[in-house]
Amino acid sequence: MARATFDFSGTTTVVTGGASGIGFTCAELIARSGGNIVISASRSPEKTEQALAKLKKAHANIEVHAVPCEVGSEESVESFFAAIGAAGIRVDYLINSAGISPNTEFLEQTQKEWDTVYNTNTTGAFLVTKYAALSMKENALLDDFRGRIVLITSTNGINSQDPVSAHYDSSKAAGNMLVRTAAEHLSEHQICVNALAPGWIETALNNTLPPDVREKETAKIWMRRWAKPEEMAACAAHILTMPYYMGQVLMADGGYR
Ligand SMILES: NC(=O)c1ccc[n+]([C@@H]2O[C@H](COP(=O)([O-])OP(=O)(O)OC[C@H]3O[C@@H](n4cnc5c(N)ncnc54)[C@H](OP(=O)(O)O)[C@@H]3O)[C@@H](O)[C@H]2O)c1
Repeated sequence: MARATFDFSGTTTVVTGGASGIGFTCAELIARSGGNIVISASRSPEKTEQALAKLKKAHANIEVHAVPCEVGSEESVESFFAAIGAAGIRVDYLINSAGISPNTEFLEQTQKEWDTVYNTNTTGAFLVTKYAALSMKENALLDDFRGRIVLITSTNGINSQDPVSAHYDSSKAAGNMLVRTAAEHLSEHQICVNALAPGWIETALNNTLPPDVREKETAKIWMRRWAKPEEMAACAAHILTMPYYMGQVLMADGGYR
C-alpha cells in the first residue's frame, strides 16, 4: 500500500472507537504524523491498554489518553468532552468511529436489537458531533476552521444489498444525512463536518458475517478485495486535512455494483 504522509503536529484528535479497527488505525496514523490523541476507552480494559501502548510508541513527542465514553448516552458523551476540556486539551479534530453491526436476517431482527444499533450508530454520531462542536466552537481558528469532524458512516447507508443488515444500513443512512445538516449549521462556527463511508473493511466488526454473504459481496467489489483498515485511516486523514470538503459523504469502497 502506498503510504500517504500527513502533518498533525501541534493538534489533538479525538477518536471514538479508537481502541480497535478503523478508529485505532486512524489514531495510529495521526499519532505517527505527530498528532496528540484521545481515544474513547474500550469496554475491555486490556484492549484499551494495548491500544495506548501502541499509540505511545508511534511518536516520541505526542500525548495519548483514553477516556471512557458510551456514545449512545448523552450524560457519558458530555462527561467525555468535559474530562478532555478539564485536562486542558483543545479538540481540533474528531473522528467518530464507534459503531456496531450485528448480522441478523430481516425477519429475525427485534425492536431491542434495532434500538441498540440506532442508539450506537445514529444517536451516538449525533451526540459526539454535538459535544465535539460545543468544545470546538470555543477554539481559536486553525487554518479556516475551529475544528473538523469526520463521521465514519458506511456505503451501506447509500446502497446495500446485504440481507442481514437492515438496521445497520438505515442507521448509517441517517448518519450520512446528519453530516449534511450538521455541516450546514456548524459552518457558522467555522466547524467542518464530513463523512467517510467505507465499503467492506477487514476488521472484527465483520467476524459474524455469514460466509456466503461475504463471498457474494466480495464478487461485487471491482477491486475484488476488501480494504485494510489502514487504507481507511489514510482516507480519514485526507478528509480531515483537505481545505474545501464540507457536508460531503466520501465513499471508499473499491468500486461496488
Ligand atoms: N468494517 C467494515 O467493513 C466497515 C464498513 C463500513 C463502515 N464501518 C464503520 O466503521 C466504524 C468502525 O468499525 P470497525 O470496523 O473498526 O469495527 P470494530 O473494530 O468493531 O470497532 C468498533 C469500535 O466501536 C466501539 N463501540 C461500539 N459501541 C460503542 C458504544 N456504544 N460506545 C462507545 N464505543 C463503542 C467499540 O468499542 P469496544 O471495544 O468497547 O467494543 C470498538 O472500539 C463503525 O462505525 C462501522 O460501522 C465499518
